Amino acid sequence: MDARQLKIEAARAALAHVVGGMRLGIGTGSTAEEFVRLLAAKVATGLDVIGVPTSERTASLCRELGVRLTTLDETPELDLTIDGADEIDAELTLVKGGGGALLREKIVAAASARMIVIADRSKLVETLGRFPLPIEVNKFGLRATEIAIGAAAARLGLSGPLTLRMTDGQPFVTDGGHLILDASFGRIPDTRALSAALHAIPGVVEHGFFIGLASAAILAGDDGIETIHAAR
Ligand code: A5P
Repeated sequence: MDARQLKIEAARAALAHVVGGMRLGIGTGSTAEEFVRLLAAKVATGLDVIGVPTSERTASLCRELGVRLTTLDETPELDLTIDGADEIDAELTLVKGGGGALLREKIVAAASARMIVIADRSKLVETLGRFPLPIEVNKFGLRATEIAIGAAAARLGLSGPLTLRMTDGQPFVTDGGHLILDASFGRIPDTRALSAALHAIPGVVEHGFFIGLASAAILAGDDGIETIHAAR
């Protein structure tokens, strides 16, 4: 099966958890987009759901395909969020933000009773960190924030380049108007310690570790679907 087909299979399995009347958080990225396409096809045959998109990109696709949208202000409590991830470990800690939407994704996931992660099985890793950790930072004081992140990482025995994410030769700007530093620290065994250290830096808006948010991961491989449930 090619990569796109695996994403479609994971999205299809997640759609089975969606029932009429649900308030959904709708993720960002190529896997979440496959979910939106399948969801829209069900909506077209009568499924009544309402969604909060996690990015402007997802909002446009939902509008184009006829998925009814609301905002988190109008609908602050959601039943289920379905989103992709860049990396997933066995405890269902995630790295997200490869698509730059980590802040809204995390706000939406935290407002949801359940979060189901959809991905192809290659995203499952033993230790997080192969994929650079996206860190959303305020534009003001970028260099000072960068230095503070490097120092916090060093105190935890981590090191590696922090790269300002660029797009078309310009710094990538998130939907919230911030920048992203991609941290290539390699394997990060203690995600909670790094999470706390990053949150203590004033210029850090949010980071891409999702800890304790995912209820289940639906992983598609050539030999079928594997679902991992959170231990909580
Ligand atoms: C968006 O900011 C990300 O968190 C995505 O959910 C993540 O990058 C997964 O994207 P793909 O489904 O395109 O791999």
